[in-house]
Amino acid sequence: MKIAIGCDHGGFVLKPAIVDTLKKRGIEVIDCGCQGESVDYPDYALKVAELVSSGQADKGIVLCGTGIGISIAANKVKGIRAAVCHDEFTAQMCAEHNNANIIALGGRVLSVEKAVKMVEIWLDTEFGGGRHAGRVDKITAIENKYFK
Ligand code: RB5
Repeated sequence: MKIAIGCDHGGFVLKPAIVDTLKKRGIEVIDCGCQGESVDYPDYALKVAELVSSGQADKGIVLCGTGIGISIAANKVKGIRAAVCHDEFTAQMCAEHNNANIIALGGRVLSVEKAVKMVEIWLDTEFGGGRHAGRVDKITAIENKYFK
């Protein structure tokens, strides 16, 4: 499995421990930056989202201060379902119900320990399929209607 990760200065605090955890699980990590300098989160959302959308990465992780801005930007790329998560439950649900291919976390709202745990839960949770697949298909239908 290959995972792309990107952050701005607000999310950087979470990145080293998450990268470490992924590597320990034998996952290949594509680190799209930043390294803590002040940057614009849409640039890093785009790098990660394009890798996931094109299939060069299986999943993506995006980090900013709240997880909000970087998820909004990532969701502008076709095929991306980026979910901002706040706790273990939302991390599980975004995999099980929404088949989120990107998780978005906030460095100013989560501890490093909690963020790492959430990433592990998201990775370990299978998409539920069934009725959830039908709903995710409806998201794709909206995307196909409005995206070029
Ligand atoms: C950067 O200061 C901050 O706005 C950004 O990290 C993020 O929280 C935006 O949603």
